[in-house]
Amino acid sequence: MTTPATEKARYYLTTPIYYVNARPHLGHAYSTIVCDAIARRKRALGIDTWFLTGTDEHGQKIERSAKLAGCGEYEFATRISGEFRGLWDKLGLTYDDYIRTTEERHKRGVQKLFSTLKERGFIYKGSYTGQYCVSDEAWVDVPPGAPCPDCGRITETVSEENYFFKLSAFERRLLEFYEENPGFIGPESTRREVISFVRSGLKDLSVSRASFSWGIPVPGDEKHVVYVWLDALANYITALGYGSDEPADQARFKKFWPADMHLIGKEISRFHCVYWPAFLMAAGIETPRSVRANGWLLFDQGKMSKSRGNIVRAETVMEVLGADALRYFLLREIPFGQDGNFSFDALVQRYNGDLANGYGNLVSRVVNMMHKYFGGVVPETGATTEAETALRAHTEAAIAGFGPLFDELNFSEALKSLWALVAETDGYLTVNAPWKKPAERSDEDHAALQARVLGTAAEAIRVITALAYPILPEATAKVWQQLGLGEIADAAKNSFLTSVAWGGLKPGTKFGEPAPLFPRAEKDAVARMVALEEENNKSVIEAAGGPSQPAPDEPKILPPQKTATPKSEIKPESKKMEETKPTPVAETPAAAATSSNEAAPVTQAAPAEQPPAASVVEEKQYITIDDFVKVDLRVAQVLVAERIPKADKLLRLEVDLGYEKRQILAGIAQYYEPEKLIGRKIVIVANLAPRKMRGLESNGMLLAASLPTDGAPVLAGFLEDVPLGARLK
Ligand code: MSP
Repeated sequence: MTTPATEKARYYLTTPIYYVNARPHLGHAYSTIVCDAIARRKRALGIDTWFLTGTDEHGQKIERSAKLAGCGEYEFATRISGEFRGLWDKLGLTYDDYIRTTEERHKRGVQKLFSTLKERGFIYKGSYTGQYCVSDEAWVDVPPGAPCPDCGRITETVSEENYFFKLSAFERRLLEFYEENPGFIGPESTRREVISFVRSGLKDLSVSRASFSWGIPVPGDEKHVVYVWLDALANYITALGYGSDEPADQARFKKFWPADMHLIGKEISRFHCVYWPAFLMAAGIETPRSVRANGWLLFDQGKMSKSRGNIVRAETVMEVLGADALRYFLLREIPFGQDGNFSFDALVQRYNGDLANGYGNLVSRVVNMMHKYFGGVVPETGATTEAETALRAHTEAAIAGFGPLFDELNFSEALKSLWALVAETDGYLTVNAPWKKPAERSDEDHAALQARVLGTAAEAIRVITALAYPILPEATAKVWQQLGLGEIADAAKNSFLTSVAWGGLKPGTKFGEPAPLFPRAEKDAVARMVALEEENNKSVIEAAGGPSQPAPDEPKILPPQKTATPKSEIKPESKKMEETKPTPVAETPAAAATSSNEAAPVTQAAPAEQPPAASVVEEKQYITIDDFVKVDLRVAQVLVAERIPKADKLLRLEVDLGYEKRQILAGIAQYYEPEKLIGRKIVIVANLAPRKMRGLESNGMLLAASLPTDGAPVLAGFLEDVPLGARLK
């Protein structure tokens, strides 16, 4: 599929806006790097390009993450948004605008969109009870307590009076729209999925939330905030100026909307291909021209994501191999649209094979020989032989083939074919060996051969460099200098990709000094990257106060301005819990939420009297494995959760262990809405002696992390599905 606007004078492309509940990792960098490469190529083709990225900062997920990190939502979002932006700058990404959904310009635009939808009769008020997946910020059609079909996390039952969008009214129109615009969704697998989703029937969509407040207030009814996906999707128009009265904003919106391409991850195609066009149709705004879904970057067999704990940071790759190496690897290794594995070994192999020994070595050979034999000045190539004709033909075929493959987002094949030309040019040099003068060849003939071969190879390199510029902006800038062609960025501004043709390197051109491009990665490169990641993980965990602090699905981020708290200084406010009598089990670090009789962890020595961290380790009291196995930890599911009259901190739970059901009292009423616990899988201490509280018997204890900030419990849970009664050991 060719993006429809390739020939147009302007091009607007967007990345998804990233949630600020997690720090950026390679999965996020992937989409942004792809967009950057496209934007660079479009600009170098003389197309007026607008590349937008930004951060998605509202919603329940962010509200909870901020709470867990112990800081205000805006402050929290500002910090993480700054990390994303900082990383994009470090990577040299050329976005034209960076939108944060907490900005005033966005809020104004979202409220205008909401009001427009309401005025046009597409939003009404109603009540709703359904399952909500906080992680995906999505309503899902599953029974109470069932996991989210997309991400597998437990859904929450939400019962609210909400505003609804008449999505059902768009079923036919959307199907017609897909039919009339076959290029709207890509790849084909995503298109088929979307169409079958719409064909299976569309229900009206709840587009406001009233049970939390971190969002954009619904105009005229501020108890509600706009549903985070309606809020987020609108960024594509609010960033251009939708909702603004400023003439400059209105002109930008008029110029760049509709978007030529929204680049997204495949799991968010429903939002972009169903909801978004429906919202726009309802509001009377043009629909985007295309949505393209990338696959997932996998690491250690799974989607790279913070909740799996299998992330790799772009900074690590940059530090050891450079930003271009990362860009090249991601675009060459992963056929766009498919899932692709990331591994340090594969990265180093590609780097050494294609960049250090391939392109880098070729450039270095030719530039050095040009200096050595011709004082760095490009000679007249003279009469050509069959070998030059063949290389020229191959180069011209590469010029003709590269653009269409790239514009179809088939970066992998585009690079593969260009690197075939790298290999061909290398082979041409080797066969003609301009450094070797056979005895029978006259000096004159040898000089002519050197001029012909080096001039021809340099010309092939010039073409390769021009075409590779959007993918390897740093390296190609260096090569352009070495070829004596000046700043590649200036060439890009002058639309040099519109006229890439054989014969651009003129005799007399003075080469720049040779400079290393891709120094060969040594054996320890993988080990260095692994060590950098480990170091980072360690420092993040230490900064968060020790390994037991962050919940598995939450960002490992500390509130700002707080120094790391040694583990021994953590003083959970056990007074917040119902009855605080400690038991041996409650002293294990993970046992924070309690049944009736258990307290939060009790490591309470006064900070002033704390020995240094090292001696804390020495004095640690170890338990044996035999001690540990005495604690019977089991997976259970909450069947019933309710408040206990006159006990404002206690909840009564009935839990199912698979082999039996039992009642547990837990001091978590201030932190968990009982109805949201129903169906949730938790961990309990199953062999704790029963104890009576408020006339009720408690048979066990819940396990939870205790937040260092206020002792709030965060229940332990699982990412994978686990059978009831499974033992933790
Ligand atoms: N905030 C929403 C998007 C709103 S757009 C109006 C969101 N944010 S996200 O941070 O969870 O994901 C942003 C993008 O990063 C998605 O396209 C997602 O697919 C991408 N990736 C996150 N991890 C990824 C991989 N491991 N691999 C490839 N892309 C992945 O969804």
